[in-house]
Amino acid sequence: MMPPERAAPPAADPAIDNWLDAGWSDRELRADVSVGLSSSPKELPPKWFYDDRGSELFDEITRLDEYYPTRREREILEREADAIAAAAGADCIAELGSGTSTKTRILLDAFAAAGQFRRYVPFDNSEATLRNAAGEVAAAYPDLAVQGVVGDFEHHLGHLPLDDADAPFGAPPRAPAMLVLLGGTIGNFSPARRPAFLDAVAGAMRTGDTFLLGTDLVKDVDRLVAAYDDAAGVTARFNLNVLSVLNRRLGADFDLDAFAHEAVFDADNEWIEMRLRSLRTQTVHIPALEMTVDFAAGERMRTEISAKFRPERVRSELGAAGLVVQRMWTDADGDYALTLARRVL
Ligand code: SAH
Ligand code: TRP
Repeated sequence: MMPPERAAPPAADPAIDNWLDAGWSDRELRADVSVGLSSSPKELPPKWFYDDRGSELFDEITRLDEYYPTRREREILEREADAIAAAAGADCIAELGSGTSTKTRILLDAFAAAGQFRRYVPFDNSEATLRNAAGEVAAAYPDLAVQGVVGDFEHHLGHLPLDDADAPFGAPPRAPAMLVLLGGTIGNFSPARRPAFLDAVAGAMRTGDTFLLGTDLVKDVDRLVAAYDDAAGVTARFNLNVLSVLNRRLGADFDLDAFAHEAVFDADNEWIEMRLRSLRTQTVHIPALEMTVDFAAGERMRTEISAKFRPERVRSELGAAGLVVQRMWTDADGDYALTLARRVL
């Protein structure tokens, strides 16, 4: 018998689709940076935080004492995963911004125990993190089809591979899928962009599919601020890392020691705002954009918001996208909420 041309991948090798060609990502980055740094006040969009180093730093954030959202979300998942599996009745979980997929395993276990679970689709724009996570999940759950996607959830929700591409022609229609967005990531969209994002999520679903959404809730300001300005300075390094991304990818000459991390709660908007404050008057060059950017001493550049929610708002924003809340769970202290909503039409 002829040997196969290419050795079959080991069973644990997950399939990964990459929808982010390098040219597209570079154009996005350039457009974002040239618009953001010409605005007043200056601003950098958050998705560029997560290069390999940024993803590592975020993973460290999730383990900090001050960063309660991960812990709270895990508590709710541990308590309610069986109820979520029963209510969703899904055979496929597609997770947006899946990162290391750590907490997701609580769901994978519960869905597997409930039977009929077949497919996990982790989706993230950080390729190395996604590959690692998908590989680890595939190895730990040999019966699960793992189909990773490297993509941008602001642009690529249109063709999430919720269906098994190998299903025979004429196979019965699939069971519902559950889309998942954990970690309070929805709070990192500006409120103005949330409706379009939620519409796109609903648009990626079929009638009967569900969406599981994790949201951090409004609470005591001191605890909020501490979660985004930890004593060990990990969040500060994470915030400053976005400047290294611009240095590496655009040839910029940001001096990371000349900026300081700041996190403040904006009580009117109910969001935490992350900024980088210029410690002196300085001029930064960005050769790839043929741009020079002046900073005044004390000038603040906004790098991220993290919106905090009230349950009514979660309900109304999902409802506006045609997603009807089935259940909402919070932890005992009311710090964090997980909401399961269904597309009904
Ligand atoms: N779900 C994980 C990680 C949350 S951090 C948790 O709950 O801990 C946010 C994740 O979203 C990161 O892994 C980041 O790489 C990813 N991400 C950020 N912007 C994205 C975008 N526009 N498209 C796809 N993934 C994105
Ligand atoms: N989704 C996370 C959150 O809003 C992201 C995050 C945590 C973050 N810490 C951060 C983003 C610090 C920027 C800076 O909680």
